Amino acid sequence: MSAKMLIITGGSRGIGSATIERFQADGFSVVNLSRTPTALTGVTQINVDMSDIGWANQGAAKLHDAVLTRMPSGQGRIVVVHNAGLLEKDSVGTVTAESFANVMQVNVIAPAQLNQILLPIMVPGSAIVYVGSTLSEKAVANSCSYVTSKHAMVGLMRATCQDLIGTGIHTNCVCPGFTDTEMLRAHVGGDQGILDSIASGVTFNRLIQPKEMAEAIYVAATQPVFNGAVMHANLGQIER
Ligand SMILES: NC(=O)c1ccc[n+]([C@@H]2O[C@H](COP(=O)([O-])OP(=O)(O)OC[C@H]3O[C@@H](n4cnc5c(N)ncnc54)[C@H](OP(=O)(O)O)[C@@H]3O)[C@@H](O)[C@H]2O)c1
Repeated sequence: MSAKMLIITGGSRGIGSATIERFQADGFSVVNLSRTPTALTGVTQINVDMSDIGWANQGAAKLHDAVLTRMPSGQGRIVVVHNAGLLEKDSVGTVTAESFANVMQVNVIAPAQLNQILLPIMVPGSAIVYVGSTLSEKAVANSCSYVTSKHAMVGLMRATCQDLIGTGIHTNCVCPGFTDTEMLRAHVGGDQGILDSIASGVTFNRLIQPKEMAEAIYVAATQPVFNGAVMHANLGQIER
């Protein structure tokens, strides 16, 4: 059986943590990049702050060591999941250049940096999955930098698909709807009433569980017939 490895960002909690468990269940070894370590066992942790544009300088060597000690180059497929994300409340009239650049760094530039570190050791059968958002293709008020960055992720995914023609590496952007994680709870200030109201806007009248998103990411990563696709996974949102 060939070796296979998941390299994920933001696996310390939420959708990322559930995704690690899903891939581990299928025999993948896992490397996680985040500022705080995952509590899951059997994961190689690399502590990085991807809001620092220089993270890749230190991260590249650690990452190559982690990958190459477990999977010599050319002998196994790699799945990269760009999951780490930053959501700020801001608007087109007030967002500062510094804050905007920070969100773009974490959500868009860091994935591009990680791709450049890993592509030289990715063999045919490997995959790159971007975790976008419903807000990759629509906008709401007061999330200007996030909406912009999640639209940009779709552009990056489509560019990835075209630039990797003939490599046997496929790519997709999985777009979660409202998922019950710290990010969503923090965004609504922990207000259960707001969470219930959000759930009432979903056709199933509930939030998505992180493990459901993990399954969608697993499908996007392992089924190359989905290539260059924007894959919405939101339980159906009620059109108002
Ligand atoms: N929850 C939702 O409703 C929802 C909806 C649509 C899209 N999404 C997307 O799904 C993805 C996962 O979100 P989630 O809900 O699971 O969020 P979460 O629980 O807040 O987890 C975010 C992850 O990103 C990592 N991260 C954040 N800033 C980082 C940085 N500067 N450097 C390295 N890692 C960083 C965090 O790790 P550390 O803090 O340990 O660094 C954490 O593991 C995100 O891309 C998000 O935009 C979520």
